[in-house]
Amino acid sequence: MVKKKDAFLRACAGKEAEHTPVWFMRQAGRYLPQYRAMRKGRSMVDMYKDPRISSTITTLPVRLLGVDAAILFADIMTPLEAMGFSFSIGAGGPVVKNPLRDAAGLEALRSIDPSDDTGYVMESIRLSKKSLGDAAAMIGFSGAPFTLASYIVEGTLTRDLLTLKRFMHSETELWAGLMTALTRLVSSYAMAQVASGADAIQIFDSWAGALGPEDYEEYVMPYLGRLFKELHRSGAPTIYFSTGTSGMLDLLGEVGADVISVDWRMDIAEAWSRIGCTSIQGNLDPTLMLCDFGTIRKRSMKILNSVAGRPGHIFNLGHGMLPATPVGSAIRLVRLVHEATGA
Ligand code: CP3
Repeated sequence: MVKKKDAFLRACAGKEAEHTPVWFMRQAGRYLPQYRAMRKGRSMVDMYKDPRISSTITTLPVRLLGVDAAILFADIMTPLEAMGFSFSIGAGGPVVKNPLRDAAGLEALRSIDPSDDTGYVMESIRLSKKSLGDAAAMIGFSGAPFTLASYIVEGTLTRDLLTLKRFMHSETELWAGLMTALTRLVSSYAMAQVASGADAIQIFDSWAGALGPEDYEEYVMPYLGRLFKELHRSGAPTIYFSTGTSGMLDLLGEVGADVISVDWRMDIAEAWSRIGCTSIQGNLDPTLMLCDFGTIRKRSMKILNSVAGRPGHIFNLGHGMLPATPVGSAIRLVRLVHEATGA
């Protein structure tokens, strides 16, 4: 029996594993017919608020694809409802109906008790763990303070984050207040997930690449430092994910996460040595999953050959699985990574 959970956790610690572990961001989503069937007649929010549905979706890719880890089915917006935000999640992503733009908005924020306010998330993790046993690792997750702030201030995702950047530069005290509140939120939400059974925590900073290194260092990194220091006390390994950040690799090495997840805009081995982290995750371009399997194989082997078996590599895409991905290709890719690395 291949020890998948063990392989994933050993890789997080930078230790030699029986094979290179593999999982995919957005592995439980619209490209799966089973997901689309369960989604019929329900909103995404309805789905993640029901622990039975959420844990079924969470564990589905482990059975279907054979991945080494499951990731909680929820959204980065999930904990923000109890904080006082009203939002919906549509095809283009979340839309916040009451974005925060001033001091009154900051004052109105409520602090949350994650095990109570998001009790359904904790229950979903417990149910998922029961179903997974030791077959695969259970990854909990949260949005990073900056990426949460970008939805909170902008209201919805925009190309240039103009409102957010203007707010960050001109309302520096409010920015500090908002980021402090979000850091506290993310920390307590993630800690509660570990207490409920999550084996690792991934922090999604999807829009960090909208900033240049100077702004990232001044307006984002102090909060990440605080967050990862706090999360370390939980004992669970941490993964920091961002995209478009190849211009600040040395800074990524300083945020304090155990694993750094990189996108496809850089060579993974080169990134690994420049970041200087224990473990690295990535980095196949998700659009390659829409190509024939020969192309997927060639580019995946290139990644594996680039890291050359160095302990601490977790194979993943550079960003989320696209809805048009053929499920068969995902199944074959998991098998390829396992077979090419010793399983
Ligand atoms: O499989 C998994 O990865 C676990 C579940 C998960 C979802 N969202 C489910 C989802 C996770 C970890 C997330 C995180 C998330 N949500 C991020 C960070 C990761 C990233 O992709 O950058 C962000 C930015 C969001 C916000 C969000 N939610 C967007 C931009 C979208 C629309 C675009 C898209 O890729 O689907 C969503 C909706 C969403 N989140 C869906 C799912 C399965 C689709 C919902 C549906 O219509 O059924």
